[in-house]
Amino acid sequence: MELVYVAFGSNVGDRAAHIDAALDRLRATPGIEVLRQSARLETDFVGVGPEQGRFLNGVVELSTSLTPVALLCVLQVLEIAAGRVSLHLVNHPRELDLDIILFGSRVIDTRELQVPHPHFHERDFVCEPLRQLGVNVDMQAPMQTPVVIDSIAALTAKTAEWAAGDCSVGLVPTMGSLHRGHQSLMHTAREQCDRVIATVFVNPLQFGPNEDFAAYPRDLDGDLAICREAGVDVLFAPPVGQMFDDDFCSNVQVGAEAEGMEGAVRDGHFQGVATVVARLLAMSNPHRAYFGEKDAQQVAVVRRMARDLGFPVQVVPCAIVRESDGLAMSSRNVYLTEADRRASTVLHRALCSAREQFRRGTHDRDQLLQCVVQVLATEPRCAVDYIELRREGDLLALPPGDVNGGRLLVAGMFVDGVTPVRLLDNLSLNSEDANE
Ligand code: PAJ
Repeated sequence: MELVYVAFGSNVGDRAAHIDAALDRLRATPGIEVLRQSARLETDFVGVGPEQGRFLNGVVELSTSLTPVALLCVLQVLEIAAGRVSLHLVNHPRELDLDIILFGSRVIDTRELQVPHPHFHERDFVCEPLRQLGVNVDMQAPMQTPVVIDSIAALTAKTAEWAAGDCSVGLVPTMGSLHRGHQSLMHTAREQCDRVIATVFVNPLQFGPNEDFAAYPRDLDGDLAICREAGVDVLFAPPVGQMFDDDFCSNVQVGAEAEGMEGAVRDGHFQGVATVVARLLAMSNPHRAYFGEKDAQQVAVVRRMARDLGFPVQVVPCAIVRESDGLAMSSRNVYLTEADRRASTVLHRALCSAREQFRRGTHDRDQLLQCVVQVLATEPRCAVDYIELRREGDLLALPPGDVNGGRLLVAGMFVDGVTPVRLLDNLSLNSEDANE
């Protein structure tokens, strides 16, 4: 028999009657003994959601021989019996809510059940009744998320535990110095997956000898705060030695997707990206991996690598997040001088101008590229690296004479500051999104 604490709450109909009926049915359930219950509290609804009535809350102490999942099912049956139509709508009024808060001293992390309940410390209407029942709430250390992990062994153990609990896992690889662009990937992963891993690793393999590896901005505390806000479960931030032994020498060879554009300017860059992403996929076994379209060529390279090497992962591209004046967010933007920062919007303006021409009926490739050239030429601070119009997705050459389904890509250097900054941007000609 194990000692279990279940929180109850109701804010629809005859609240006390719903709770009493549920407790009666629990008493009648074989394998469950209802020991004590706390006093009932009346509390306002907190959170975002439809306007709704006050809650009646409390906690009941049980002793049970049921397994955690068996008890969960019993509780769900009671919620339905009280009249709840959907058990999965968050922050909606409910006839009855029953949450397992503590189950003996067990720690459970499966798709259906997390125990101790991950948010109970934030809820006075759970903590206060627990205290009344003599539970030392402060001894039940809240699970701080994200859990920060810096070793591959710990990461693999965590993902194996999730796999055993049938959780879908989303991976968001980054090099840190996180901003809202990275965070949008985490939000998407949070919506689509049961568990989310973000990784922060400045990958030496993808920097050329004259690039900014040493100067790349690093801010793990700031990164942690952004991950926490986005509801990330695990932040994997390994030291270089964890990822690559001193004598590490294998590399993932990349193909046509890595040719031209970034591949032409940054020798070996995509090989370094593909190698580190392959390592991350292998050690975390995610179901989905999230990449920003800001680095559209990277998405194409990674998608191809995952397919060729047989990683059973869905590569999910995510829209570019921009500053209010159109500049695509990037960790390197902090190095722009004020004057270069003002000038940097030219990239997005140039792309939008060509898209506008496309919408007005210009479907000639050279004219569209010329339009980008002209706008960029108005800004002498921007030294253009490349301007390309490629096929959406794999970014290979467009079929001759057809620009439909094309994506415009540009890169430019801004050299005013101590650290020269290369900025990338791209836009789908067919995109309807005014912000893109
Ligand atoms: P990093 O530059 O840190 O970017 C991590 C991810 O965030 C990438 O998928 C990138 O495209 C995405 N991202 C960055 N800025 C964005 C924005 N403004 N809007 C939307 N997404 C954005 O890209 C890398 O790191 C590395 O190459 C990595 C994949 C981690 C391999 O080392």
